Amino acid sequence: MAEFTKTNSENSVKKLNLNLKKHPIVIAIDGTSASGKSTNSKLVAKALGYVYVDTGAMYRTLAWHCLKKNVDVNDAKAVANACRRWKTDLCCVEKNHLRVVHLLVDGYFPEKEIRTPETAAAVSHVAAVPKVRDWMKKTQRDCIQFGHLVMEGRDIGTNVFPETDYKFYLDATLAERSARRAADGVNENLAARDRRDSERAAAPLMIALGARVINNSNLTSAETSKLLLDDLRARLPAGSFLQ
Ligand code: DC
Repeated sequence: MAEFTKTNSENSVKKLNLNLKKHPIVIAIDGTSASGKSTNSKLVAKALGYVYVDTGAMYRTLAWHCLKKNVDVNDAKAVANACRRWKTDLCCVEKNHLRVVHLLVDGYFPEKEIRTPETAAAVSHVAAVPKVRDWMKKTQRDCIQFGHLVMEGRDIGTNVFPETDYKFYLDATLAERSARRAADGVNENLAARDRRDSERAAAPLMIALGARVINNSNLTSAETSKLLLDDLRARLPAGSFLQ
């Protein structure tokens, strides 16, 4: 059964109504690897007409850039330097009726390159560097220039947009998540990845205060996204979403 924990304040809607014109809405979807964040974030963004932001892709892009430039990803100082110097732009593109933010490096979006096993192996080292996380936080906050957002990651509700009232944390059992990765043809040690994500000093993976927790071990993505959307439609200000 799904675990759905409500801990948020209902006063939030009133506060948002006041700020709506100035402040785009951010829906933060955090959680463990293979907990269904990407699938569900895209479904929610599409249904509401919001812009989708995959922050993991941004960390992967820096990992790919470091590998390409022969920067040792275990050398935090070298990684921080590479992050300070790289030339990037944010852009918003439409793909399959979904608006998506891309981080471009020298005008290029390395869509396929960031999904290789080499990049996957390098990314958690890069993501542990505090200066990298500062840069990512600023860049991710800049995404509100594109409008209302559904942003997925590990620290969106705790660190990037702690002020949002729309925080979710997705999880599933290790066995279920490992089975999902295997079904995608990816053989990954998720227990080790969980440990690295939650034990790092800088913005570790944890449940944000006020986040609604959904354990979707026994749920399809249609069922999970319905839980998210039912909750959001009941709380989002009228007129701030498509359907
Ligand atoms: O979600 P993903 O597998 O694409 O994430 C890639 C890596 O980036 C993973 O090791 C966790 C890290 N990450 C992070 O530290 N903070 C985020 N907001 C998103 C991803």
